[in-house]
Amino acid sequence: MQVIKQYIEDNKQRLLDELFELLRFPSVSADPKYAPDVLNAADYVAKKLTDAGADNVEVCKTAGYPIVYGEKIIDASLPTVLVYGHYDVQPPDPLELWKTPPFEPTVRDGKIYARGACDDKGQFYMHVKAFELMMQTNTLPCNIKFMIEGEEEVGSNNLGIFVKANKERLKADVVLISDTSMISMENPSLETGLRGLSYLEVEVTGPNRDLHSGVYGGAVANPATILAKMIASLHDDDNHITIPGFYDDVTELTAAERAELNAAPYNEEEYKKDLDIAETWGEKGYTTFERTGTRPTLEVNGIWGGYIGEGAKTVLPSKANAKISMRLVPNQTSEAITKLFTDHFLKIAPPYVKVKVTPHHGGEPVVTPTDSVAYRAAQKAIAEAFGKQPIPTRGGGSIPIVALFEAELGLKTVLMGFGLDSDALHSPNEKYDIFNYYKGIETIPLFHKYFAELSK
Ligand code: BES
Ligand code: MN
Ligand code: MN
Repeated sequence: MQVIKQYIEDNKQRLLDELFELLRFPSVSADPKYAPDVLNAADYVAKKLTDAGADNVEVCKTAGYPIVYGEKIIDASLPTVLVYGHYDVQPPDPLELWKTPPFEPTVRDGKIYARGACDDKGQFYMHVKAFELMMQTNTLPCNIKFMIEGEEEVGSNNLGIFVKANKERLKADVVLISDTSMISMENPSLETGLRGLSYLEVEVTGPNRDLHSGVYGGAVANPATILAKMIASLHDDDNHITIPGFYDDVTELTAAERAELNAAPYNEEEYKKDLDIAETWGEKGYTTFERTGTRPTLEVNGIWGGYIGEGAKTVLPSKANAKISMRLVPNQTSEAITKLFTDHFLKIAPPYVKVKVTPHHGGEPVVTPTDSVAYRAAQKAIAEAFGKQPIPTRGGGSIPIVALFEAELGLKTVLMGFGLDSDALHSPNEKYDIFNYYKGIETIPLFHKYFAELSK
C-alpha cells in the first residue's frame, strides 16, 4: 500500500497532465466530423499503453473506429485480467451550457471539468496508470490485457465482431471495467448489474407538406399532437408501461434482494435538491433504487417537429419525430422488446397519420456474480483503499458489451466504477473528482494483488 501511495505522490502532476492530454481529443463517436480526433485519441491510448510497458500494442482496425489492444503476460500459469474501457465520448451539446469548453479540461474546486472526464477517459486511464505503477514498482501480480474501444457510445457494433474474431487473444479469467458509478466517496459501492437497452426512432407523418395552420388547422390531424398522444399513452396512471407483454419476462426481485438494495444510503431530499425537482416520479410500488436498478423503463430521448426557430410561425407540420429508448432488466431481450414496441406503436396509430418505427442499437442486461474470486478481490481492494466495505448496487446505465463478454468469451465482469451519478455524464459540465482519479489508481493495483492471491 505504501509503495502505491508513494508512487502516486511522486508522479502526481504527470498523472493528471496525461489525462488532460487525453481529454483534449474531441473523440465524439456519434458525429463523423470528429473522425480524425477519434483516431488521434486511439493513437494516444496506444502510445500510452506502450510507454506504460504493454507488449503487442495494436490499434486494431474495424469497420468503424479502432480498438486499442495491449497486454503484459508475465507467466502463463497466472490468472489474466482483461481490462475494458472506451476512449470515445458523447457529443458535448448543448455547448452554450458549458461553463468552460468541453475539450479544454479545467479544474474547479478539485474537479476536472471536460467531456469524458468521468465517462470513460478519466476512469479507463486510471487502469493504464495503475498498470504503469505496477510495472515501475515491480508489483504486477498477474497477466493483464487491455481492450479500449472507440464506439461504446454508439452501440459497440464493431467490438462485437472483434470479440468473436479474437477469442484466443482475449482469453482471460475475468473482465474488469471502470465505467460505472459509486454511491459516494464516503459510501463506496460496487455495481452488480447493468440494464439492457432498446433504442428506436419513430416518425409520424400527416399531410404531404407543412400547412398553414389557419387554413387547414382543425380539419387535418397534426402529427405533433398525435405523436404526443401516442407517447403519453405508453405509461398508465401508475407509470407502468402499457405495451402488451412488456413485463412478461421481467424477473421480480426476492424480498431479501429488495431489502439489500434498499439498505444502501439514499436521501430523497438531497436527491430532489440536486436535480431541483419537487417530487421524484416512477413506477408505483418501487423505490428510487429499484426503479433505476431493477425495473425496465421507457424514455423519450428527443422529440421534434414543426417550427422551432426564432419567433412564431403558424404551421401545421407534415411530420413529427421522437427518439425513444427502453432500459431492460433480466430476462428481457432487446430484440423481443424492440418487436413488442414496434408492433404496439404501429397498432395504436390512428388512421389519419402514417407511422414508421426504425430500430437503432440494443444491448442486453446483465447481473454480475457477488460470490466470485474477482468480486471478492474488488471488495477487499475497495475496503482497503477507502477504509469501508463496498455496498452492492444495481446500475441503471448500460454497457452492452458486458453481456457479449459472457456469451462469447465465457467471462464474468467486475464493475469497479469510481464515478458519481452527479458527475453529469452525457450532460454539460461533465466532471470527475481528482480525488476519485487518484483513489482509483490506488485501488486498481490492490484488485490485481487480491485477485492473484485469491485465485491461488
Ligand atoms: N458508462 C456508461 C454507462 C453507465 C453509466 C453505467 C453510469 C452505469 C452507470 C456508458 O458509457 C453509457 O453511457 N452507455 C450508454 C449505452 C450506449 C449503448 C449508448 C447508456 O447507458 O446510455
Ligand atoms: Mn461509459
Ligand atoms: Mn456513456
